[in-house]
Amino acid sequence: MSHSSTQLPQLLETADPMRLAILNARREGRSIGLVPTMGALHEGHLSLVQASVSKCDLTVVTIFVNPTQFGPGEDFGKYPRDLEADLAALATVSRDVLVFAPSVELMYPAGYDTRVVVGAVARPLEGRCRPGHFEGVATIVLKLFQLVPADVAFFGQKDYQQLLVIRRMVSDLNIPIRVEMCPTVRDADGLALSSRNRYLSPPQRQQALSLSRSLQLAAELVAGGQRDPQVVLRRMRELIQQAGDVRIDYVALADPDTLQPVSSMDRPVLALLAVRVGPARLIDNGMIQPP
Ligand code: PAF
Repeated sequence: MSHSSTQLPQLLETADPMRLAILNARREGRSIGLVPTMGALHEGHLSLVQASVSKCDLTVVTIFVNPTQFGPGEDFGKYPRDLEADLAALATVSRDVLVFAPSVELMYPAGYDTRVVVGAVARPLEGRCRPGHFEGVATIVLKLFQLVPADVAFFGQKDYQQLLVIRRMVSDLNIPIRVEMCPTVRDADGLALSSRNRYLSPPQRQQALSLSRSLQLAAELVAGGQRDPQVVLRRMRELIQQAGDVRIDYVALADPDTLQPVSSMDRPVLALLAVRVGPARLIDNGMIQPP
């Protein structure tokens, strides 16, 4: 189905027209950028779309709330879905993007029974807290790469581990696509933009600032000469716990390539955290460069 309004980007909901559009673009020698999303678009997503529009001739944005990456008791049912609002948000960047918003039945028809098995980089952190999550992510992203065989796919740094899992899969399975990482977009007060921020009440939103503040604290401690990861982790945890009624899933200082814990901080280290604030489970990360 094509969207009727000329003011909004074109919407495709089935595989054949999507493949045809890509084939035609390829025949014309146009480069293709892909921005996979679950909708509920915010400025972070729009920055990915902007990056693709500026680098590729045709940009495809996919909108699909993927059931296989949500665990039991997670927010699949209540995840915000508003296609009209998403199309309007995309139109503020470009009306020429193509939007692919397939149904669950199209992506997982009756009898569907295949999943991507992910390796070591998917195991710690999010992998430990959300068993099966990255298998679901890798499976849907591989399917999207098949349906929209783009030259470049754009992902945000906020989901850093997801990006590493996808890069590993692209390399291991010889998928001819380049995966580009775009910086995390933050509100003026430092909170990383996330579709889940809309679950927060105003007081919870204040508590959520502890995530970005703890990343800031870690950077300051290292800039000030602190090199003991255990000290930095303790200070980060203390800062988050002072925010009040929050629950830390993890705070970690990890090697940016393997996500294994570091024993010293003389090289660039990635600080990553996941914290539950009220009904929202929030993640954030930041690279810490010793001076
Ligand atoms: O980052 C997301 O929004 C999702 O995990 C993705 C990559 C669109 C796969 O469903």
